[in-house]
Amino acid sequence: MIYPIVKFGNPVLEKPAEPVTVFDRELKKLADDMFESMYAARGVGLAAPQIGISKRLAVIDVTFKEDPAAQVVLANPEIIHTEGRVRQNEGCLSIPEFRELVTRARKVTIRAQDLHGKWFEKTGEELLARAFLHETDHLNGKLYISHISALKRDLIKRKIRKLVKAGEW
Ligand code: NI
Repeated sequence: MIYPIVKFGNPVLEKPAEPVTVFDRELKKLADDMFESMYAARGVGLAAPQIGISKRLAVIDVTFKEDPAAQVVLANPEIIHTEGRVRQNEGCLSIPEFRELVTRARKVTIRAQDLHGKWFEKTGEELLARAFLHETDHLNGKLYISHISALKRDLIKRKIRKLVKAGEW
């Protein structure tokens, strides 16, 4: 099932999500639906709050379907190590049409549970590292625009308010 993506302005995006406690077939179905919704929206990462579900669950595929082994499901993720810095353009499916340069760690190790509840650690670099940070932020109610200057953030918010008024958001 493809869920519509919740956009900036919806409070679900700005509150910390609830921990995943039950690892059953329903959770597996939710992760499958999240991959489907992410691909349909042409994204490489999606967090459950972005489909209106306040759960600490995120999916990532930085290869966008090219490598099935690249699919990552993160339940209750925690960043445990970061290294280096890299400045890259970043966007978010919940803030469509906008992109900004964001400085993030170049290498990130994450600890998370899989769909069976088993804890694992995974290290990613570059885009995968960025996705780990971006999606974990989502689960903490934080959006990438919190990492840019207040000036740029206000400009984006102003543009979005105009789009809302015009019925285009
Ligand atoms: Ni996002």
